[in-house]
Amino acid sequence: MHHHKRFWRKILVLGLSMIIIVCTAEDFLKGDSNLKWLPVAQRRQVSSFVLKPRITDLRYVMSRRPDVIVPSKNSAMKWKFNIHLNVSKSAYETSMTFLSLCIASSIFRNTTEWIHFNTGSQKLQNLAAALSPANLRLGGTAADFLTFDPYSKKDDSASSPDITDKDDFFMLDAGLLWDAGFSKLHDSTNYTMTGKQWDSITTFAQKVGWDLMFDFNLFKWHRWQEGLWDPSNAELLLKYSAERNVSIPAFQLGNEPNSFKHNFNLSIAPETLAKDLQLLRDTLAKFPQYSQSSVFGPEVTSISRHVGARKYMDQFLKDGGNKVVDAASWHHYYLDGRTATVEQFMDPKVLDGMKTELQTALNLTGQSPPVLPLRLTETSSCYGGGAPGISDRFVAGFMWLDKLGLCAQAGVTAVFRQTFYRGNYALLSVDLDPNPDYYLSLLYKRLILGPVLNATFEPSISHLRVYAHCVRRDFYNYPQGAVVLYYLNLRDSNVTLTLDQFEGQSLDLFLLSPGDGAGPLSKLVKLNGQTLTMQGPELPPLNPSPHKGDISVSAQSFGFIVVPNAQVKVCS
Ligand SMILES: *[C@@H]1O[C@H](CO)[C@@H](O)[C@H](O)[C@H]1NC(C)=O
Ligand SMILES: *[C@@H]1O[C@H](CO)[C@@H](O)[C@H](O)[C@H]1NC(C)=O
Ligand SMILES: *[C@@H]1O[C@H](CO)[C@@H](O)[C@H](O)[C@H]1NC(C)=O
Ligand SMILES: *[C@@H]1O[C@H](CO)[C@@H](O)[C@H](O)[C@H]1NC(C)=O
Ligand SMILES: *[C@@H]1O[C@H](CO)[C@@H](O)[C@H](O)[C@H]1NC(C)=O
Ligand SMILES: *[C@@H]1O[C@H](CO)[C@@H](O)[C@H](O)[C@H]1NC(C)=O
Ligand SMILES: *[C@@H]1O[C@H](CO)[C@@H](O)[C@H](O)[C@H]1NC(C)=O
Ligand SMILES: *[C@@H]1O[C@H](CO)[C@@H](O)[C@H](O)[C@H]1NC(C)=O
Repeated sequence: MHHHKRFWRKILVLGLSMIIIVCTAEDFLKGDSNLKWLPVAQRRQVSSFVLKPRITDLRYVMSRRPDVIVPSKNSAMKWKFNIHLNVSKSAYETSMTFLSLCIASSIFRNTTEWIHFNTGSQKLQNLAAALSPANLRLGGTAADFLTFDPYSKKDDSASSPDITDKDDFFMLDAGLLWDAGFSKLHDSTNYTMTGKQWDSITTFAQKVGWDLMFDFNLFKWHRWQEGLWDPSNAELLLKYSAERNVSIPAFQLGNEPNSFKHNFNLSIAPETLAKDLQLLRDTLAKFPQYSQSSVFGPEVTSISRHVGARKYMDQFLKDGGNKVVDAASWHHYYLDGRTATVEQFMDPKVLDGMKTELQTALNLTGQSPPVLPLRLTETSSCYGGGAPGISDRFVAGFMWLDKLGLCAQAGVTAVFRQTFYRGNYALLSVDLDPNPDYYLSLLYKRLILGPVLNATFEPSISHLRVYAHCVRRDFYNYPQGAVVLYYLNLRDSNVTLTLDQFEGQSLDLFLLSPGDGAGPLSKLVKLNGQTLTMQGPELPPLNPSPHKGDISVSAQSFGFIVVPNAQVKVCS
């Protein structure tokens, strides 16, 4: 009797264990779409890791990240992906100024930097003009400490005397203060922008074909505590500019107001900011030349990282901000520049942070009709000036290209790269030499315009990302109906891309890869295997490589593939 009981108990335990194991394995396979495409034999191979895990077994560890499963040497599995473009419809179009640029207002503050940014340099002008048309935002944390003084005798050859603090003010951009928990106030960091400085930046912008977006100082008040913004210094700048026929198509007021309490021990309610922006509009209306200029706000920090930013944006829109500004503007960085690693720059989960950011943004604007367009007016890889030795290397292109792709798909009207010049994340080095992201931006400008298309690929893995667009036709003389797709291969091995949809067609490849031995941390970039270098003040040509058939794409690289004769209706 006793024996019987124990026997049945054993059977029961064994049976339950079997059920649990089988269910787990089933869930693993069913739940993960990344595995569905594996041939049955390989699924079994994968599931055997799950059933007999050995922590030391790399293949087991990798099976926890299904998209990095390495096929065994004799496996028939190929890293081959067929890309398909949905050409039936396009939800959004991007304009020529979709990719735009930032220079931090602090450039007017540190006169040493200012001298380096020699607006008269032919090389600088060529580099800037190649990215035109673009918007140039002059703004950031330092905007709220700037006073325009056309008659200032500030000597451009000496370091600004009002800098007493060893913190580079510029490093305080976008949430570094916030995250570092700095509590000291920065009232003492006021500085002037001279008429001469303003003349040289506006002349430069006009010469290279950039449209200015100027960020006015929100810390100027009529009555310090309850009052509204004091537009008198803004009026001075507008009057001065109107007399010189300076074009300023867009304006902003203040920078990251959701962080004011934390950073500067003062608060400006969203409702007050909406009124201040109306005051800015009224001020612009007095100047025929600026009455039609756009106004963007509220310039909050990342809305998915900071609850305060989300609430601020929400309240701003609900308090009438959505009827004052032409688009809801905000900032985004993926990581803290002091701690970011090169692996994070290529981590699909980190890149997906931008998807959450965009969903959050669309949710917010969607809740406050009239629904405003979105504008990402300051954005880069890492806040705090970028990650030293990473944000200015080849690897930074993954975040930049992915962000451009996601923003285009979400209908964002412009993405402003922090920065064109200055900081670890700049497109140009201090010596005005292009970093890899400069060339990536340039190709993006030359190839991407108009309707956004949707690309999917089979099998689906998270370490490959693909976007598609109608091609810009005028630069490389592409025919009507031409399309371009761009990809990021985040895997540490090569993949093959196929386009069954456009089988047999001639393709133009613009494949980018690290330009020196440092791999992802390369300071240089290759286009179709050729390292890109300036020839004196002249840019190198960015020529396509003609190709037919499957495309082999190297590990940890990105690029563009044009199908000139795609004859896609949406692109005609
Ligand atoms: C293409 O996109 C349209 C509109 O978004 C959608 O209705 C259609 O199902 C898509 N086609 C394919 C093959 O995914
Ligand atoms: C100004 O810029 C120069 C050149 O990059 C830098 O060496 C210096 O530390 C900066 N000064 C301040 C106070 O930020
Ligand atoms: C800095 O400027 C703001 C207004 O522009 C002013 O209220 C503040 O007192 C100034 N701070 C100092 C230390 O001068
Ligand atoms: C002012 O600039 C615009 C273009 O920005 C130009 O069309 C116009 O002729 C200029 N006017 C004068 C008086 O220079
Ligand atoms: C912040 O401001 C309040 C009132 O304006 C003041 O009482 C308080 O001492 C300030 N805090 C700091 C840290 O300066
Ligand atoms: C967007 O809004 C929907 C509905 O209110 C909500 O379910 C969803 O979680 C929101 N998504 C984000 C990313 O905030
Ligand atoms: C692209 O297509 C996929 C699959 O059909 C769909 O889930 C996704 O929403 C589409 N995206 C856009 C931007 O149309
Ligand atoms: C990966 O692709 C690159 C460029 O196409 C090629 O040079 C390299 O040999 C390939 N590596 C492997 C392991 O196939």
